[in-house]
Amino acid sequence: MAEPTLRVFPNIQALSQAVAEDLGRQIRQTLEHKNRFSLALAGGNTPRAIHEHVAAQFSKTLSWSRVHLFWGDERYVPHDHPSSNYRMAQESLISRIDISPHNIHGMPTDALDPEDAALAYEATLKEFFKSEPPSFDLMFLGMGADGHTASLFPGTPAVQEQTRWVVPGQAPVAPAVRLTTTIPIILQARAIYFLIAGKDKAETLRSILQDPDAPAKYPTAKIFASAGAKVTCWTDESAYPGSRT
Ligand code: 6PG
Repeated sequence: MAEPTLRVFPNIQALSQAVAEDLGRQIRQTLEHKNRFSLALAGGNTPRAIHEHVAAQFSKTLSWSRVHLFWGDERYVPHDHPSSNYRMAQESLISRIDISPHNIHGMPTDALDPEDAALAYEATLKEFFKSEPPSFDLMFLGMGADGHTASLFPGTPAVQEQTRWVVPGQAPVAPAVRLTTTIPIILQARAIYFLIAGKDKAETLRSILQDPDAPAKYPTAKIFASAGAKVTCWTDESAYPGSRT
């Protein structure tokens, strides 16, 4: 299996600018031969600056009416909660671009039972992709210092899910209850961008890139190993000291 591509930038701002420019290219090129572009957003903090660069550069120059936004995972809190991944994207991207609410497919977090919400989101994906393969044109993913990605935390049942596309997840940090896409649907994406910055990620990223046993330990490594050439790891020198793009 071909290796992921590693792109190292001096800092988070340079990384964010580069990812934003690449996203603009990806959307433009895809829309030349497809009628829509599906982007799955990552949660956490790293994507915020990327979203802001995207909005600053492309709010007026991209066909946002043909772009559909999804989430790779969500904290099981209201969309206006400070910890909500939806809220982070709303603040840093959605509120700054001209995109229809019909194109924004947030993970539902208002069902009493997260299981019902997971089933509902899987139905949303099936409705969107219909008879086509469920392949996001591009999926953003982050990585925690423990090697988790989306809300696939090491040692949790969600990591082992091989059939369902969306399941409830358990996090060792609050908010503990999550919704997450699973490895089968993540691996279907046409392209996967890991957004990894900060020195707290350095030890784990090095292990993932060097340790042959990493896929058994870290969900991020499992995706690196399985998705190979579809993965581009966008990182900064704090997370990957040494070489630079
Ligand atoms: C979440 C995420 C999670 C995140 C990583 C990295 O809901 O928290 O989707 O997988 O991407 O924890 O988070 P930072 O970008 O904040 O380091």
